[in-house]
Amino acid sequence: MEEWTVEVEHCKSPKEKPKTEELEFGRIFTDHMLVIDYTEPVGWHDARIIPYQPLTIDPSAMVFHYGQSVFEGLKAYYTPDGDIQLFRPEKNLERMNRSNDRLCIPQIDESHVLKAIKQLVHMEKDWVPTAEGTSLYIRPFIISTEPFIGVAPAHHYKLIVILSPVGAYYKEGINPVKIAVENTFVRAVKGGTGEAKTGGNYASSLKAQELCAKQGFTQVLWLDGVEKKYIEEVGSMNVFFKIDGEIVTPSLNGSILEGVTRNSVIQLLKHWQLPVTEKRISMEELYQAHMDGTLEEAFGTGTAAVISPIGQLSWEGKDLHINNGKTGKVAKALYETLTGIQYGKEKDPFNWIE
Ligand code: COI
Repeated sequence: MEEWTVEVEHCKSPKEKPKTEELEFGRIFTDHMLVIDYTEPVGWHDARIIPYQPLTIDPSAMVFHYGQSVFEGLKAYYTPDGDIQLFRPEKNLERMNRSNDRLCIPQIDESHVLKAIKQLVHMEKDWVPTAEGTSLYIRPFIISTEPFIGVAPAHHYKLIVILSPVGAYYKEGINPVKIAVENTFVRAVKGGTGEAKTGGNYASSLKAQELCAKQGFTQVLWLDGVEKKYIEEVGSMNVFFKIDGEIVTPSLNGSILEGVTRNSVIQLLKHWQLPVTEKRISMEELYQAHMDGTLEEAFGTGTAAVISPIGQLSWEGKDLHINNGKTGKVAKALYETLTGIQYGKEKDPFNWIE
């Protein structure tokens, strides 16, 4: 693909930046957004940074009817030197193309899109919050825009990137959350779309989330969609357990999303020479480990919350209190090292920072 130039139209009335205490996850958006169109036979074209604004889309646009869309999430961090840096952004764009493939959306040129995202973030650098634990969340997404209500892959798309200054994802922050093991609903099955970052997976998770919240839980632990025996994810995050000194996470089996944080955690643990294994793990096994006193830690991993320790797991009427409801040593070390690298406060031995 030829090099593209990104046209820029500056916004005429910049918004007021939020105060630190107003920052929650994903409610405030910056002054500009990136838009790239796809039409056949031209391909992706007309990359432009324009003022943040509502879209005008035909009500028959295919995305509204059959959900042909994908998204990503990554963050820009403000460093002590006053630089802005990104964490492994190429991994997100690689995954976006894997999601595109699953959803029959045309492939993007990852390096061109990354360059355009960096240009947008650079333009919005004053929007990157500086307080501890805050960042600028980057949300690239693609929607099918062709006006047609036949069920088929669309011929027209828009790739849009919006930016949101954010604080903590969970109000608990790095404090342990209460999780209910979900026995009724499932998130995904092998052969479905669980491996792709597509809105439908999140839409289908809402019912379980709503019901567990009514019972005082923060999120659910998802089991496999066939036997409802094997552990898959926690909420919208990957999940890890420390059992008898070994750190285990469900292996990528075709229905689990391959998290960038999951991958980074595995690499960090190996770097620390701690035993880490990707394998199938059943809820029964986990319960047994708890009964034997060997379930030492449990935590979720994701871009939004980074590391989210699990203090309590409720399963079939039994409450598993993990590490006395406290943040475990491994979860804490991972959180500190990962955020240290992300915020430019720690050495980055992996070249993760851009
Ligand atoms: C993440 O953990 O980063 C997620 O995937 C949550 C996001 C959909 C808000």
